[in-house]
Amino acid sequence: MGVSLLQTVFLLASARQAFASCAHGTFLSPRAEDGSVKVNTFGYSGEIGPLNWAALAVENGACNTGTQQSPISMVAGTFNMIPASDLQIDIPDFNEGTEFENLGTTVEVIAKGGTLAFGTKTFELQQFHFHLPSEHLDNGTSQAMEMHMVFQSAAQEIAVIGMYIEIATDNAGTPSVVQAPEANLTRRGRPERRKNQHLRRQVVRSTGPTVLLETVLSQVGSIATPGTKVATGPVIMSEIVNVLKSGSFQGYMGSLTTPPCSEGVNWLVSTARLAVTANTFNGVRDVIGFNSRFPQNTPGSPNLLSLSAATPPAAAAVVEIPGGVLG
Ligand SMILES: *[C@@H]1O[C@H](CO)[C@@H](O)[C@H](O)[C@H]1NC(C)=O
Ligand SMILES: *[C@@H]1O[C@H](CO)[C@@H](O)[C@H](O)[C@H]1NC(C)=O
Repeated sequence: MGVSLLQTVFLLASARQAFASCAHGTFLSPRAEDGSVKVNTFGYSGEIGPLNWAALAVENGACNTGTQQSPISMVAGTFNMIPASDLQIDIPDFNEGTEFENLGTTVEVIAKGGTLAFGTKTFELQQFHFHLPSEHLDNGTSQAMEMHMVFQSAAQEIAVIGMYIEIATDNAGTPSVVQAPEANLTRRGRPERRKNQHLRRQVVRSTGPTVLLETVLSQVGSIATPGTKVATGPVIMSEIVNVLKSGSFQGYMGSLTTPPCSEGVNWLVSTARLAVTANTFNGVRDVIGFNSRFPQNTPGSPNLLSLSAATPPAAAAVVEIPGGVLG
């Protein structure tokens, strides 16, 4: 039963062609040839920011023309709810530790190994990295951070699991389940299959910090300079896998949220959340600053940047503030 739903979600184009044309891929293979960390040249503000990504390289055209761009606001009607039982997630613990790198645009944990399988497709975990604040919006609301676990299939298709990260409200809380109002699960306005009507948008939230995140992110100060890396201690993935299995997934077809903005990416935004302490959050913010692409148009609708480029200039509008001048 899950297979037909997943086929619906994942039937669309693959990201294969995007990666064929992106041999120097800054997204999945951040290392330079000599093994050092490759620092990205795009950014999040000014002329290298997301309004101008398409101008930075010819292969970035999808950033201002693509109609299935990410991130988006996860509102009812833009995604399919997928039960965790429809996915098979097997990720080993990295007991020997791994590498934590500063790519200039994000901080990333190299995590090669572990699989995500659904339907007939199997993807292998490559890395996970962080955005601050969250890129996806939870029904219109940004979250403190978002973790992206990036998987790739043998055919070079991409699947990304997104997890919201909140600031922990206490240091030893027990996981709790918060029942959110029932979302009417439709995709682009069409009625959703009845069999998934029972799936509620159940936010699974832990009030205590996620050990894996504290382990890794507490080292962020030692990679404050873009291009640097540090060896981590053991990275216990089972904690995250268990959190993922306690929730469900909001699935949609979108894109990379970074140049070249390639489409055909299988997005799975988890309803289960992670948490970090306020100290850890502040440390990550000091290093990352800000790295969130603006929310894109509803999948299937025109790219917001093409829309704005096509809009004729309006007559100059002067807004008068009665009674005074605001500086
Ligand atoms: C999403 O947000 C809208 C508008 O604020 C609200 O009416 C709706 O109940 C929310 N849905 C869920 C599932 O939280
Ligand atoms: C979902 O639909 C039911 C009726 O079909 C309605 O009562 C409910 O308010 C809807 N919920 C949302 C979040 O739109």
